[in-house]
Formats: sequence, structure tokens, C-alpha cells
Amino acid sequence: MLPNWTLLKPCDMSDKILKVIDLHKRYPTGRSAWLPVLKGIDFEVEEGQIIAIVGPSGVGKSTLLHLIGALDRPNQGGVEIDGENIFRFDFNKLASYRNKTIGFVFQFHHLLPEFSALENIIMPAMIGGEERTAFMQRGHELLSLVGLAQRAHHRPRELSGGEQQRVAVARALVNHPRLLLADEPSGNLDMQSAESLHDLLWQLSRELKQTLIVVTHNRDLAERSDRVVELYDGKILRNRKPQR
Ligand SMILES: Nc1ncnc2c1ncn2[C@@H]1O[C@H](COP(=O)(O)OP(=O)(O)OP(=O)(O)O)[C@@H](O)[C@H]1O
Ligand SMILES: [Mg+2]
Repeated sequence: MLPNWTLLKPCDMSDKILKVIDLHKRYPTGRSAWLPVLKGIDFEVEEGQIIAIVGPSGVGKSTLLHLIGALDRPNQGGVEIDGENIFRFDFNKLASYRNKTIGFVFQFHHLLPEFSALENIIMPAMIGGEERTAFMQRGHELLSLVGLAQRAHHRPRELSGGEQQRVAVARALVNHPRLLLADEPSGNLDMQSAESLHDLLWQLSRELKQTLIVVTHNRDLAERSDRVVELYDGKILRNRKPQR
């Protein structure tokens, strides 16, 4: 059980939080040559759900996650959050979407090496302009949540790979994101650290109703989710229930 966190409130359950509509993405590969990667992707996510995105290497899983996180723009189609297409947001609203609505956990943690675990975690809240006492308290709570209360002042290089990823998860959660996006979060971890990271993500989703989209090559992990979206050749091959 997670302790009764004062500042980490469960999300409100509502209907669909996210709709991915006819998403196309191609990359330029030469003067007039294009590599089509996503060729019309449609799916929906309900609040509190865990969606696993699976598929062969190079199929476009990270591309899809980057589009949902507004780190890139599609060539066609949209991503709707609460009925609004994020690609129609103006500059400020898009920045706020990235900072407040979305939490991103990358395959490689991307922690800032010169800052401590605690400082890395609170960074998005500082950027969001929140009051210091509130985010400091939440930073400490998050450190406890991910089992690193004793590591607050360690720099990333003074943490193990599994611990670094836990800090990255805590950082992704600091602004109470509606949607947590994780791109192979345990891809570089040994089996035990990977399992404990998965347990943490699942616990967050089940107990805090944190909506989660996770890209993974790990079959067992995918089958623990609520829906498995299988990509193949730029399209959704199957959007299915897990086989449990
Ligand atoms: N910025 C880019 N410019 C050109 N091509 C790109 C770019 N980013 C990705 N690609 C290509 O798009 C395809 C999809 O890449 P993507 O990273 O989304 O795959 P993936 O499914 O996440 O693969 P993996 O499982 O190996 O992480 C790949 O063939 C890749 O080479
Ligand atoms: Mg990838």
C-alpha cells in the first residue's frame, strides 16, 4: 500500500482522457525523400488506464509517444486531451501541456548531472512557477514514494541505474500529470531493478489512478496492462485486452 500522501492526490476518474486520431508522421530522409513511420494511428485512453504500446524496433513507438507528449508535430491527424487538439494550442498552452499535463519517463533517464536527486525531481515544479514550500515538500514525498528518501542529495552519478530511473519517475510525477508517458523505462536495467520499477509504476496507476502509456519490449509487462496496442508497419495491428 502507498502511504496516505498529503500532496499526491488520486486523479479524478472521468471518461476518455486522450484520443489519438488518424496520426501520421513521416521523416525527411533526403531532398525530396520521406520515410513514412506512422500511417494513421487511432486509439483512446481512459483515465486511470495502463496502455502498453508494443511492436518491433523501428516501428514508431517512440515517435508516437513523442507526438502524444507534444515533443514533435505530426504530418496529419491530432491528439486530443479532454476534447482539445494539442496541436492547435498556442505556444503558452503547449508549454503548459508539456509541463503540467504530461509526465515523461525516457529510456535513458536524462537527469541533470550537476543537480541532486531532490533538485532534479523538483525542477519541473520550479519551472512551472509554483511556491517553493509546496514543491519542496512534494519533492521529499516523492523521494519516499520511490524508496529513495536516503538519497535526496546524491547526484545522478552517485545513484545506481535503477535508482536513477526511480528519480526520473518521481520527476515525471512532480506536477501531478494527468498522463504519464514512459518509453521503455526499464530497458537499461537488470531484471530485479526492472521488476521493482514496473511494480512502482503499476502501484501508482492502481492506487493513485495515474493514467499511464508505456512503451515496452517486455511481454510480461505488456500483459499486465489494461490494453495492449500492437504496432506494425505504421499501423495498429491489434488493440486488445491483455492475455492473463
Ligand atoms: N528524427 C528522425 N529523422 C529521421 N528518421 C527518424 C527520426 N526519428 C526516428 N526515425 C526513424 O523512424 C523510425 C521509427 O523510430 P522510433 O524511434 O519511433 O522507433 P521505435 O519503435 O521506438 O524503435 P525502438 O524499439 O528501437 O526504440 C525508425 O526507422 C527511425 O530510424
Ligand atoms: Mg523507441
